[in-house]
Amino acid sequence: MRYGHFDDQRREYVIERPDTPLPWINYLGTEAYFGIVSNTAGGYSFYRDARLRRLTRYRYNNAPFDLGGRYLYVRDDATGDFWSPSWQPVRGSLDDYECRHGLSYTRIASARDGIRAETLYFVPLGETLEVWRVRITNERDAAADLSLFSSVEFCLWDAQDDATNFQRNFSTGEVEVADEVIYHKTEYRERRDHFAYFACSEPLAGFDTQREAFLGPYRGWDRPVTVERGAASRSVAHGWAPIGSHHVRLGLAPGESREVVFVLGYAENPRDEKFDPPGSQTINKRRVRPVIERWLRPETVAAGFAALGEHWDRLLGGLRVTTPDVDTDRMVNVWNAYQCMVTFNLSRSASFFESGIGRGMGFRDSNQDLLGFVHMIPERARERILDIAATQKTTGGAYHQYQPLTKRGNNDIGEGFNDDPLWLVLGVSAYVKETGDETILDEPVPFDNEPGSEAPLYEHLLRSLRYTQHRLGPHGLPLIGRADWNDCLNLNCFSDTPGEPFQTTENVSGGVAESVFIAGQFVLAAKELAAIAELRGLTGEATEFRAAAEKMTGVIVEHGWDGAWFRRAYDFSGNPIGSSTDDEGQIFIEPQGMCVLGGVGLGDGMAVRALRSVEQRLATPHGIVLQQPAYSGYRLELGEISSYPPGYKENAGIFCHTNPWIMIAEAMVGNGERAFDYYRRINPSVREAISEVHRCEPYVYAQMIAGRDAPTHGEAKNSWLTGTAAWNLVAITQWILGLRPELTGLRVDPVLPASWPGFRATRVFRGATYEITVRKPAGTTGRVSYLLVDGERVDGTVVPPAGPGAVVRVEAVVES
Ligand code: BGC
Ligand code: NOJ
Repeated sequence: MRYGHFDDQRREYVIERPDTPLPWINYLGTEAYFGIVSNTAGGYSFYRDARLRRLTRYRYNNAPFDLGGRYLYVRDDATGDFWSPSWQPVRGSLDDYECRHGLSYTRIASARDGIRAETLYFVPLGETLEVWRVRITNERDAAADLSLFSSVEFCLWDAQDDATNFQRNFSTGEVEVADEVIYHKTEYRERRDHFAYFACSEPLAGFDTQREAFLGPYRGWDRPVTVERGAASRSVAHGWAPIGSHHVRLGLAPGESREVVFVLGYAENPRDEKFDPPGSQTINKRRVRPVIERWLRPETVAAGFAALGEHWDRLLGGLRVTTPDVDTDRMVNVWNAYQCMVTFNLSRSASFFESGIGRGMGFRDSNQDLLGFVHMIPERARERILDIAATQKTTGGAYHQYQPLTKRGNNDIGEGFNDDPLWLVLGVSAYVKETGDETILDEPVPFDNEPGSEAPLYEHLLRSLRYTQHRLGPHGLPLIGRADWNDCLNLNCFSDTPGEPFQTTENVSGGVAESVFIAGQFVLAAKELAAIAELRGLTGEATEFRAAAEKMTGVIVEHGWDGAWFRRAYDFSGNPIGSSTDDEGQIFIEPQGMCVLGGVGLGDGMAVRALRSVEQRLATPHGIVLQQPAYSGYRLELGEISSYPPGYKENAGIFCHTNPWIMIAEAMVGNGERAFDYYRRINPSVREAISEVHRCEPYVYAQMIAGRDAPTHGEAKNSWLTGTAAWNLVAITQWILGLRPELTGLRVDPVLPASWPGFRATRVFRGATYEITVRKPAGTTGRVSYLLVDGERVDGTVVPPAGPGAVVRVEAVVES
């Protein structure tokens, strides 16, 4: 069952009814001011940091879901009837309803009783504000006298404190209302130099800023007394809960349309110019007033919205494909790329599942996110890499998280997640392959942000490898530390106390738990670094890294192979995990993917054997589960993984991040049919048809789909902010479609499903535009026989870089 449809032309997902299984959200903002917005206008906004600079209040885990938002109320002043044009929070019946989530904007349109309202929400480029452009149309035969009320509930900035510290916060709230603009200035009198404003383009019939005055005693947002009676009370909040609400009266002739613009924004003043006049407690509005005036004008709004569209044309224009599969096209060309940009901007901070108050950017997450956006914004990928690398320690170890505002490592969580450092090698390698910019390797980068400790980025990569090499266990496999990619495999933590964090509790010592996953990752990273060393003429080092990869491969073959698949790890006591010797958790997906990505077992049949085991034991119609059999109960020696009921999250859920590793591995062994089949099983657009089962948004990936052991098999959770976005884009574009940036050029080496006759693509690579056509007889599964580059035959499958501005025609021909 579907709740909407894709409008591919307009790059929008159109939701056709408001009562989606879960709030289906979108993101506003591309630079510093961000918001989440649901299909019923729920959500909140923040400036840069979702915890510390939260502008508006949202109620997570509310019943019903999704309360707090950018709400409007329309009232028919002749009858007193009122409703929300976004359905929530009034939830009155609507004659029609449509929500269009687009690229950094959302449009919600509905009608009731001949009154149509369409609201466009977006954040203009270069601004720290959001625009709500409302068009109200009277489709009746008679004149209509209407009231329009806006509403937001202000958050008192620190979202964590806002939700907990009521003894203080019920007394700190303050606003100003000046020239019909509502200013929220809680704590402005003391250490905050910032405030929020909420303005309307029309003359006001009234306003409210005190929540209880607007709602009325013991009433909720579904039935504000102000809206019911059709008159605002001009309340000025002092303490309690400051809100912003404008009341506008509109008399509309039959057929008449009116545009009303609301602007909600964030502003800062220099500390010594906070007040006007100086010495008063009144906000100095000299800087912000012109901004407000400009954005209340319809022509500014129209131009700002057009500019946003052009911004997305630029970002998405560099990689476009036309394949026989519409679900592939729309994910690659629009939605998957869009999701990658959202993970770049938001990391794991704010979604319907992430409350915005968990702090920090993940070291491994950020490096992997990079794989999905480096081709769209290489300069910002460069900055991001340098920021991440600067948090690395001299040991090569890495803080697991760093703070986005200070860009410093987070001491609360610390280090010891032993896969972390290796992701830096993979991230940098992806950047250099994409851009050809080797200068980044010479860039001086400090360790732990210590001035004076700078060493070339290349040295950081070297230390990443050394970190693994210096931490090997009894089998010669890398020590796992607190966890590897699987945060829930906590082999050095034996926690029996409720509430203890599994990742940071270290209550035993002398642990020698080892990870086969990190071993595979090491082989991959060592080979990548060898290629980089070679590029720099360091043949000795290149040889050394290759030898290290070879050696680790040998260890994996000897101690990491279980007979029909790669083992997962060895626990604290040296027992294998992910082995047929256990009755649960016999086979895990991660090492099957990562070892093959590192090239382990490609030459001797082990890779193919492992992938067959994945197909036989882990693959379900909804995707590939993380392990089987699921752990039926808590195991002290395994940690958080066994804390989940079977079928969820890391305990045999379909952890979508890992599925593309298997797609890539299948492509590497030449099995395009199966690679693409796996791709489609978790592709959200394919799953749109079963939205009543999948339940999350059909336009973005979710972190997890419940596995076969769960009663809700097929149900997705944790949509939007997940490494799944980057890896799926890599799997489909670089391995299945085979358009793969390499150090020496752009490889064109697709591994396609048999039925495809080929595909076309436009790929911008190092400033040149490649117009690529792949032709293949349908029904065959062969690899590229030869390439024609501007009509000239080229040996192999790598197209050399053509230089900025060039347009290159590439034909890849598969003969049989
Ligand atoms: C989740 C993991 C996540 C970890 C982060 C766990 O509860 O299951 O997916 O990586 O928290 O700390
Ligand atoms: C989510 C975390 O953000 C990521 O770092 C981790 O690899 C996965 N969960 C798996 O545990």
